[in-house]
Amino acid sequence: MMIANTRAWQALAEHAETIRARHLRDLFAEDHQRFVRCSLATDGLLFDYSKQRLDATTLKLLGDLADAADVRGWIERMFRGETVNRSENRAALHVAMRSSGTEPIFVDGHDVMPDILAGRARMRQFCDAVRSGEWRGYSGEPIRAVVNIGIGGSDLGPRMATTALGAYTHPSLQVFYVSNLDAADLAPTLEILDPRTTLFIITSKTFTTQESLTNARTARDWLLSEAGDAGDRAMAQQFVGVTANAAEALRFGIAPDRLFEFRDWVGGRFSLWSAVGLPLALAIGMNAFEQLLAGAESMDRHFRSAPAERNLPLLMALIGIWNINFLGAWNLSISPYSQSLRYLPDYLQQLDMESNGKSLTPAGQPVGVHTAPVLWGGAGSNTQHAYFQLLHQGGWLIPSDFIAFAESDYPLAGHHEKLLANCLAQAEALAFGNDHADPLRACPGNQPSSTLLLRQLTPFTLGQLIAAYEHKVCAQAAIWGINPFDQWGVELGKKLAARLLPAFEGNEAVSTDASTAGLLAWLQAHGKTSKGTE
Ligand code: F6P
Repeated sequence: MMIANTRAWQALAEHAETIRARHLRDLFAEDHQRFVRCSLATDGLLFDYSKQRLDATTLKLLGDLADAADVRGWIERMFRGETVNRSENRAALHVAMRSSGTEPIFVDGHDVMPDILAGRARMRQFCDAVRSGEWRGYSGEPIRAVVNIGIGGSDLGPRMATTALGAYTHPSLQVFYVSNLDAADLAPTLEILDPRTTLFIITSKTFTTQESLTNARTARDWLLSEAGDAGDRAMAQQFVGVTANAAEALRFGIAPDRLFEFRDWVGGRFSLWSAVGLPLALAIGMNAFEQLLAGAESMDRHFRSAPAERNLPLLMALIGIWNINFLGAWNLSISPYSQSLRYLPDYLQQLDMESNGKSLTPAGQPVGVHTAPVLWGGAGSNTQHAYFQLLHQGGWLIPSDFIAFAESDYPLAGHHEKLLANCLAQAEALAFGNDHADPLRACPGNQPSSTLLLRQLTPFTLGQLIAAYEHKVCAQAAIWGINPFDQWGVELGKKLAARLLPAFEGNEAVSTDASTAGLLAWLQAHGKTSKGTE
């Protein structure tokens, strides 16, 4: 049944009429225990959702909605390795990739944990060899730089985590991430690298993604041209592949024993915990990487066992659905007050919008209600000087997720206190506004937000945080009745680009719409790649 046709949904719709007219100022004035009632302290973190525009009745009705959608059942089926990714007929077992392996996890009757643990051991062996200087390049030099070539889920997770955990990275091993087809990504990176001491990791689940293979070919050509007669050794020692498609990686020229494989039932945007995390593990070391896994696994245990009213990812999911589907807030602003987490919004954009940016159920039926929010954000306090004006006085209803840490990861005196004061002040100003006599200076408030506080940004707490958002996205998908693990919408653009490419490569005529044809003609007439004269 479409979720919008359930009694639970209709009860929330009726209830929303009441709440929509309330201001957060009133909700706090009438309940001095509101913060106590609407915050959750668990596993070393504090989740404060008291500045969300809801009350006890809202929470009760949202719990009923989760029951009506059988979120628990859906999540258990995912954890048990059942085929929750129906359109690709696959399980979705990113949780297995971070499991400590105490319990077997079966896919098609086969316990996958032994292979996962063996793969993790191979990552450790490789990371230790590279980080210790034992692993040598074609000229006998140790590795000093790693370049991960990948895009989307093969880039955003490890890139975000490597930056987040900058305080934990190896002092003399630099890790670079190249993703864009635009040569302005790879070229400047190669310009500063020494081919004798650079390791390339080609990360691609399919090993067919145009951006990654184009960058990989150029990097390979660069390395081989520099290595000269030692080309074979350079490929063997300085090119590894991370993929679920070994055949394609071997065809590219990656040596069989230089492949780190993962299975097709690990979704790209859920793959940080697999060998896709190899550049991160090289940066921070395997012990710290396994702490990241442990943090995520502890969130898995919490998610499966905590009751609804004390379940962090489920509360995040239900609050999101309340804001989107019942208060009409189509945006979600992610506000980490942490420069180290500056790539978290980019990562969450793919996790949330590529997972849930859908309007059909797996059976092809319209969901009938809005699904994923338009997710964006940036690191505070920078964002206060960018788009917070709109949040305060733009008139849009835009919920925010604030994230902050009690202790700084870079303890310079006189910084962290100010950062935290600004974080809390922004959430307060958005919620309560002011009653300034000058209308131009008046802030209406009633802008909802949640604030997630953790003690410090460590591999463990980062694992908790990412897993919480993963489970939030999956719980929302379960309620909307959509598949969060496929992404058919991205195929059309790829196909059209392949059709247009000959016009750029060989000036060939292609039949297309008048706008694209006009744009093409201008570029052919003006571009350096054009064969035409100026
Ligand atoms: O964006 C489409 C997508 O398929 C993502 O889901 C995926 O993370 C990305 O492209 C890269 O895919 P691959 O890891 O196969 O190169």
